[in-house]
Amino acid sequence: MIQETPVKRLCKTHNIITVNGQYPGPTLEVREGDTLVINVVNRAQYNATIHWHGIRQIRTGWADGPEFVTQCPIRPGGSYKYRFTIQGQEGTLWWHAHSSWLRATVYGALIIRPRENKTYPFAKPSREVPVILGEWWDANPIDVIREAQRTGGGPNVSDAFTINGQPGDLYKCSNKETTAIPVKAGETALLRFINAALNHELFVTIAQHKMTVVATDASYTKPFTTSVLMLAPGQTTDVLVTMDQPPTRYYVAARAYVSGQNVAFDNTTTTAVLEYDCGCASDFGPKIQPAFPAALPAFNDTSAATAFAAGIRSPDRVKVHENVDEYLFFTVGLGLFNCKPGQLCAGPNNNTRFAASMNNVSFVFPQTDSLLHAHYYKIPGVFTTDFPAYPPVQFDYTGQNVSQALWQPVPATKLYPLRFGSVVQLVLQDTSIVTPENHPIHIHGYDFFILAEGFGNFDPKKDVEKFNYVDPPQRNTVAVPVNGWAVIQFVADNPGVWLMHCHLDVHITWGLAMAFLVEDGYGELQSLEPPPVDLPMC
Ligand code: C2O
Repeated sequence: MIQETPVKRLCKTHNIITVNGQYPGPTLEVREGDTLVINVVNRAQYNATIHWHGIRQIRTGWADGPEFVTQCPIRPGGSYKYRFTIQGQEGTLWWHAHSSWLRATVYGALIIRPRENKTYPFAKPSREVPVILGEWWDANPIDVIREAQRTGGGPNVSDAFTINGQPGDLYKCSNKETTAIPVKAGETALLRFINAALNHELFVTIAQHKMTVVATDASYTKPFTTSVLMLAPGQTTDVLVTMDQPPTRYYVAARAYVSGQNVAFDNTTTTAVLEYDCGCASDFGPKIQPAFPAALPAFNDTSAATAFAAGIRSPDRVKVHENVDEYLFFTVGLGLFNCKPGQLCAGPNNNTRFAASMNNVSFVFPQTDSLLHAHYYKIPGVFTTDFPAYPPVQFDYTGQNVSQALWQPVPATKLYPLRFGSVVQLVLQDTSIVTPENHPIHIHGYDFFILAEGFGNFDPKKDVEKFNYVDPPQRNTVAVPVNGWAVIQFVADNPGVWLMHCHLDVHITWGLAMAFLVEDGYGELQSLEPPPVDLPMC
């Protein structure tokens, strides 16, 4: 149940939107192959939907959740039963609201274990702990984004980062509630990190402990050992940690990775504490000050972020295609709208409003119908299928002298149509318009292989030599490097309408999104199921 709940953080009590009164919301623990039926009842005063981030939703796009894409919102007082089956995915995913900025507080973990008779591809850990990174606003996040939309300026930043809903003891009034992770000396624990923050990529370290990455975005990886993780919003990372240090208290700490230039930042740090079972964590007597991680990178450390991404590999040889049906090239980046008479214009120079785009199209969410419903019933006028495969003109994407014409994207609801089963290879190219920035791009309904990443302008001749056709990582969200590019590949084998967007919510608000329309294949098993009877309508 989506409802309003009073919660005390940073010295003050606020009413926030929660699920079942919990913040973070309840953890769903399921097995691969399970069918989930989740009845969502909206008792809040806002429209709401829930998205099951990373779930493939094969033929069940109606349960995917983004508002005005696969369903209209659940109105206050309404409800909707999400029904889907988990097929071929194991590891950590999560769920979150997909309506305005409601996901600031409406999110939780979704843990998928192997089927009953199957095991992990690593020794069974003695404990498993979801560790959800988030962001806390003293203000109501919905008011924050509404105000930014009204003025055209940038929204206020959050007041704290959080781990499992708690800012931790480096923030005011947060000491006693710091998230504790109890462990035993000598054991190996599986920590399931999720970045649920609204607008920030985050570095994570644990004082004096190494982490062995075994999965990202519910795809297993070749185990690799590191002392720093970087998670973009939307991403998950499962790590094994062996408690091999002297038994005491150790910080698990996270702070922002800020890739944009000239972004003032207050590098505040959220903490949880690994507490060895040693009596040192007892509530009686003074607590021992935890050891602080030596390795937490500076907030602008792009090389630490890049190094982590480069370490992730699929466990074995995977099936990638050298013969591709659709070569696509999408720019991702910010832009500006010129002010119209009567508009507030708090963007740069006080005569613009912030915008963002892919291939210079700034995505407009429809209001009268969902894209999927309009597609299924062939209702005209809701969208067009002419999203461009390439940018309107080629330019020096990461250069300083970008033509002013490209600063103003075209607002539209454009989809890119894909034939069922086609092999899609997509270059995602960051632009330096307004400011270059690392953009975490997430595709609904699909996992993809990241063939390569790099800096500068993608060079189709030279950069293909960097493509990993052997063991590229499989993910649902790729952090496209600042002033750089990433190349991804997937097979369009899931019919429906699938949103692709930057997972920094401020950028979705500004239009950094598009959608693929994947046609049905042959026969029932390659076709979208009919809509559920309780599908919310506009
Ligand atoms: Cu995690 Cu479109 O979302």
